Amino acid sequence: STRLPLVVANWKLNGDRDLLTNMVERLDTLNAEQVEAVICPPFVYLSEDTASIQKGAQNIASQESGAFTGEISGRMLRDVGCYYVIVGHSERRALFGETDDIVAEKVKATLSAGLIPIICVGETDEERENGETLTVITRQVKAVLDVLPSFSDSIVFAYEPVWAIGTGKTASCEQAEDVHNEIRQILAGYNHELANTTRILYGGSVNPGNSKELFGSDNIDGGLIGGASLDVDSFMTICENAV
Ligand code: G3H
Repeated sequence: STRLPLVVANWKLNGDRDLLTNMVERLDTLNAEQVEAVICPPFVYLSEDTASIQKGAQNIASQESGAFTGEISGRMLRDVGCYYVIVGHSERRALFGETDDIVAEKVKATLSAGLIPIICVGETDEERENGETLTVITRQVKAVLDVLPSFSDSIVFAYEPVWAIGTGKTASCEQAEDVHNEIRQILAGYNHELANTTRILYGGSVNPGNSKELFGSDNIDGGLIGGASLDVDSFMTICENAV
């Protein structure tokens, strides 16, 4: 495809300044025309200089400003040179009560600040066993597309089966490709250009060993990496495997 592979490090509540410095130094040697690497460290590190490597936030406030103690706005993220925002990660949905509606509001806040949302969707173990995978994915994807102000804004989706996150259990290439293809069909129902250009990442126990095969699938345009993004060598290898 003509979509530039995108590999995103989601550090979650991990990492420090040293890790950021070391990782940026290595990632800076990647050929940016072949793969785009992004680091999403905790908020406090987002104003660090990351050379050619783009920065992403792990969350965003749905509001623009006001009395919302502890929140960070899109304008602030943009102000410190942030480019992407992970929205609706399954941990935000499960542990911090983010509903489809909240996720949709956050996507709007991201776009109106001129940032690119990385919208996470994925089914739980139970939902997959009940045969509800596509119903859940469709509901989560449509909740966002229904409120998109314009189809010309750049957005990214990440398919992360909840049962594969941090478990060491990866979706098979076939399982992942099936869902990715489904997401692209849903996008095509809204806008063909959007379907062709939108990158759909896979996340869930991606590591140096399984990344090459996963990224080889037609509709898998890169990855959202948790655990393996905390090790410079591992993350570098994963990025190289996306080329
Ligand atoms: O955002 C990253 C995903 O939650 C995947 O995490 O690579 O540790 O399974 P993981």
